[in-house]
Amino acid sequence: MKFSLVRRCHHRLSPSKLSFMASLTTQTPTPTPTDEDNLDDLLCPSTAGSATAAEIGEEREDVEKASFLGHPNGYLGGEAGIERAWAHWRKLGQPGLMVAPMVDCSELPFRMLCRKYGAQAAYTPMLHSRIFTENEKYRSMEFTTCQEDRPLFVQFCANDPDILLDAAKRVEPFCDYIDINLGCPQRIARRGNYGAFLMDNLPLVRLLVEKLARNLQVPVSCKIRIFPDLQDTLKYATMLEEAGCSLLAVHGRTRDQKDQRKLRADWMAIRAVKNAVRIPVLANGNIRHMDDVNSCLEVTGAEGVLSADALLENPALFAGFCTAEWAGEGEDGTKDGNLDQAELLVEYLKLCEKYPVPWRMIRAHVHKMLGEWFRKHPEVREDLNAQSRLTFEFLYDMVDRLRQLGCRIPLYVKESSNSEIVPAANGDVPCSL
Ligand SMILES: Cc1cc2nc3c(=O)[nH]c(=O)nc-3n(C[C@H](O)[C@H](O)[C@H](O)COP(=O)(O)O)c2cc1C
Repeated sequence: MKFSLVRRCHHRLSPSKLSFMASLTTQTPTPTPTDEDNLDDLLCPSTAGSATAAEIGEEREDVEKASFLGHPNGYLGGEAGIERAWAHWRKLGQPGLMVAPMVDCSELPFRMLCRKYGAQAAYTPMLHSRIFTENEKYRSMEFTTCQEDRPLFVQFCANDPDILLDAAKRVEPFCDYIDINLGCPQRIARRGNYGAFLMDNLPLVRLLVEKLARNLQVPVSCKIRIFPDLQDTLKYATMLEEAGCSLLAVHGRTRDQKDQRKLRADWMAIRAVKNAVRIPVLANGNIRHMDDVNSCLEVTGAEGVLSADALLENPALFAGFCTAEWAGEGEDGTKDGNLDQAELLVEYLKLCEKYPVPWRMIRAHVHKMLGEWFRKHPEVREDLNAQSRLTFEFLYDMVDRLRQLGCRIPLYVKESSNSEIVPAANGDVPCSL
């Protein structure tokens, strides 16, 4: 399947589901995180002790008993579960172009910007399930959404099925999947025993998935990394499917392959997973422009792709725009797309005025979107870094200043492209949550 540049119509949230009002975030300046590890550290203090093997045995018995008593969901393994997984995916319009989960970076205004420019679904940043259940401030700061923010995957890290279920129940009316982070490879995840470190405890992973699949109305998805050995990856994926996972996003790198800019993702391993399971599969890794999207879908046979790093620099990636770095790639020539990152940043800032988020997130996006611009005018970056407290006025003025300095770095589109960007309604819809 080739993706065209025309936006699809997203499904809408029914008004009855709009009762949840997350309080607006306080705008507090914080230092700019510089890498994924630091971003993680900001959010994810260690999870309290995880389950022992004996506890897992008891928990499994409970889960099995509960299944005889009936459950609301039925997103379980087996034929019916697979059919429901596909029915749900189709009901959402088979969204194939996705904003990947990114701590501090896939927050509401950024998701809305990407949706306007072709993203068909999005993940929240990873939320820490235990803190989410315990701390009201964390909930209202870290999870905000609105009517147009759909389809939405809400991602949690966890190692306790009951706590995960409690966290998931709080957000299930406002999303389309509850996602379990099984891929975070950072030190903080090792300390907290979650993310990719649960690959060492697959019985616990099974329990997490089963618990949600049996007790939620919305389906469960998982985002995984691959094992060094392909057979281990395939066993892992089929176990998740049997446990009730309805959609699998596969990042084609192992837990130890952290340098994603240097190490290419293994699309052939993703293809093998796609062939081994019967639920929808999304491919993740090395999606930098639309040619990558189409090659990845062709190679892997996946239903869709997730992009992370490249979207941060170019949130209009899924609308067919690419940065100068990739403009020479592919058979077609490219031309100035009449859009640039400063314009995208201004749109993002307006969305932040409407849907407030912590300043540390805004700061991170400014650096990502204007990275190339700052390389040409480092003095502007220095001024930005000197601001311990940001304001929107300062940021809009900063963009004007770059323009006055004659700085413009276009985004490019294919020479053959007559794509028209149809702005989504999100620019006009009030923040409802
Ligand atoms: C800033 C940043 C934050 C991330 N946070 C998360 C996260 O919260 N949950 C998760 O599953 N993956 C997270 N990731 C990993 C991405 O979702 C994705 O799997 C990875 O970057 C590979 O995709 P890419 O090659 O398109 O960048 C993060 C990546 C980045 C760059």
